[in-house]
Amino acid sequence: MKVAPSILASDFSKMGEEIRRMELCGADWIHIDIMDGHFVPNITFGPDIIKPLRKYASIPYDVHLMIDHPLEYAPRFAEAGADIITFHVEAKDDIKETIEKIRSLGVKPGLVIKPKTPAEAVFPYLKDIYMVLIMTVEPGFGGQSFMEDMMPKVKLIKDEAKRQNTDIIIEADGGINFETAPIAAKAGIDVAVSGTGVFKAEDPKKAIVALRDL
Ligand code: DX5
Ligand code: ZN
Repeated sequence: MKVAPSILASDFSKMGEEIRRMELCGADWIHIDIMDGHFVPNITFGPDIIKPLRKYASIPYDVHLMIDHPLEYAPRFAEAGADIITFHVEAKDDIKETIEKIRSLGVKPGLVIKPKTPAEAVFPYLKDIYMVLIMTVEPGFGGQSFMEDMMPKVKLIKDEAKRQNTDIIIEADGGINFETAPIAAKAGIDVAVSGTGVFKAEDPKKAIVALRDL
C-alpha cells in the first residue's frame, strides 16, 4: 500500500518540518484534513495555511475536504498546491459539477463516503474520478478505532469499476496502524491514510515502511 500520513496528528506549531520529516521517512503522499465546523464538528485549516506548507515536500498533497461547500473552495485549495482533492458525496454541492471543477483546475478529483454511506453512492461517478476514499471512522477527529466492517466496500467498488471498464484507486482513512493495516491491505486498499499510527509511533519511518510493505 501507499502511505499518506495525516498531518492532523502532527505538531501544528511546526507543520512544515513535520511534513518534511514524513517525506524523509518515506511517505508517498501527505494527507491534509480540511474541516469547516459545519460538515463535521471540528475546524482545522484553510488554503492560506496549506500554501506556505507546499514547499516543504515534493510528494503529492492529498487534500480531504470535510466541508459543506467543496465547489466553492476547491479553487483555493488547487491554488494552494493540492494535487488531489477529495470531497464527500454527503456534502451540499452538485457532485458532477464539483468533480468537473476540480478537474478543470488541473487537480485529480476523488469522492469520499462516510461509514453509513453505501459503496453504491460513488458508482455513477467512477469514470470521472481518480480515487474513492472510504472512511473507516466517522470524519471529524483523529485517533479513533478502525471500522473493519467498511472493508467489503472495497471489492464492491473495484468490481463495479471493472464492470465499467475504468481504473480506480481506493484509499482508506481512519484508525489505520500496524495492527489494522493488514486488514486494509488484504481488502485491496491502495492507499492508507495514517495520522496517529505514524506521527505518534516511536519510529515513524519504521511505521511507514511496515504499512508500505503490506
Ligand atoms: C478524520 C480524518 C483522518 C484522520 C485520521 O476525520 O479524515 O484523516 O486524520 O487519523 P487517525 O489515523 O489518527 O485515525
Ligand atoms: Zn482524512
